[in-house]
Amino acid sequence: RNAAVRLIWEEEDVVRTLPKRKRSSHKGTYGKLLVVGGSRPMTGAITLTAKAALRSGAGLLTMAVPDDIYSVVANRVPEAMCYPCPSRDGSFSGVIDVSTLDIDAVALGPGMGRTDGVRQLVRTLLQQPVPIVMDADALFFWNECAALVRERKNVTVVTPHPGEMARMLGLSIGDIERDRFGLSKQLAAEYGIYVVLKGPYTIVTTPDGSQYVNTTGNPAMAKGGSGDVLTGMIAAFLMQHHSAQEAISNAVWVHGKAADMLVENGHSQWDVLAGDLIDGISAVLSHLQ
Ligand code: APR
Ligand code: MG
Repeated sequence: RNAAVRLIWEEEDVVRTLPKRKRSSHKGTYGKLLVVGGSRPMTGAITLTAKAALRSGAGLLTMAVPDDIYSVVANRVPEAMCYPCPSRDGSFSGVIDVSTLDIDAVALGPGMGRTDGVRQLVRTLLQQPVPIVMDADALFFWNECAALVRERKNVTVVTPHPGEMARMLGLSIGDIERDRFGLSKQLAAEYGIYVVLKGPYTIVTTPDGSQYVNTTGNPAMAKGGSGDVLTGMIAAFLMQHHSAQEAISNAVWVHGKAADMLVENGHSQWDVLAGDLIDGISAVLSHLQ
């Protein structure tokens, strides 16, 4: 059995592992992503996730949103398709039929709220045989989803901040901060998942316990929406890499590097918006290519 490693994921690792786009490629080569989220009070998160995924190379993207926010969401991302889902009180009202959508990965959670319909929808999507990134409100029902997660044969990635991680494990935020490495490893092993524990020095943990620490990023990212951007980037990279670990570590690195380059080039640590991070992906990727 391979010994688990603990490494810092550096620029040279990104340069080595980031897949180039092939001359002969077409949009299907890079994957069809379904981004599921949104609710009446939170219409922005899913568009941040969707745009970030497209900026990170996703080939084709569909947003699935509650039907009563359909028009505002669809209007913001002309490059994406938008699929209206049954809703109640501004949130998903239950399961949707994704069998006709032909998808390669799912990004699940941004701004979706915590209703019973959301719980049902999360449970349904976890049964789809494609890689899934679970973030934000999709992590709220972790205890009721845990058995389904364990049964999954495809890659599952969870991207909690310390507050979400604390809720998932039934611990306090202080408990999480005292043992970020150990608890990440425990969660990853117990469910056979990839855990991205966010914050300064985000840790990516693989199901077999290897851990990769990120050093890019800065306090400019401490603003609502930064996490939604990362979710889209991870999902897009998962579809374009063979190794899930490399995909996730590269997404985390590029996300932080985008913030670092913005602050070095005309932005301050105060003014950066999550949308600027999406635009910042361009500078990072063009520097890498
Ligand atoms: N240094 C480096 N990186 C940082 C820093 C920092 N000081 N602060 C934040 N970040 C990065 C994190 O590593 C992570 O990638 O910004 C991102 C923040 O993600 P979230 O904490 O998920 O924040 P966000 O999603 O934007 O918050 C909006 O979503 O998850 C819910 O409950 C959350 O209501 C909140 C909402
Ligand atoms: Mg978040």
